[in-house]
Amino acid sequence: KRLFLVNGPNLNMLGRREPDTYGNKSLEDVVKLVEETAGESEFEITAFQSNHEGDLVDWIQRAEEEADGIILNPAAYTHTSIALRDAISAISKPVVEIHISNVHAREAFRHTSILAPVCSGQVVGFGIDGYRLATLGMIQKIESEGR
Ligand code: DQA
Repeated sequence: KRLFLVNGPNLNMLGRREPDTYGNKSLEDVVKLVEETAGESEFEITAFQSNHEGDLVDWIQRAEEEADGIILNPAAYTHTSIALRDAISAISKPVVEIHISNVHAREAFRHTSILAPVCSGQVVGFGIDGYRLATLGMIQKIESEGR
């Protein structure tokens, strides 16, 4: 079984970017954490990061053929992207949305997720540990549904 780990804009700068908000662990650390978590259940990870909305749409579409589910941090596109929402709606594979920071305790424009209504669930505000929680939740969902 395989999960896609898809990270959106500016997350390539994780660890160096606003460390008070996002911590000092890098995207590489996140990928390792998700690979380790998935490995416990013999799931494999394909990790992808892009600053470009269309590339993220391509990867969501690809999951329909190549993955059993997606762990997605859409970053700022969470709050703006109808294209990402339509891509999630277009596929049958489950998507879990994850945010490192507690978006609800931040600016009002971060309080709305355009994507959440078409995702299976959301993990918000647990720092990068949230990626582990999202991975466990997604594996549990896939296994319990016998997908
Ligand atoms: C984020 C929250 C978004 O509002 C922000 O644009 C990001 C990161 C998070 O992981 O906390 O880039 O998705």
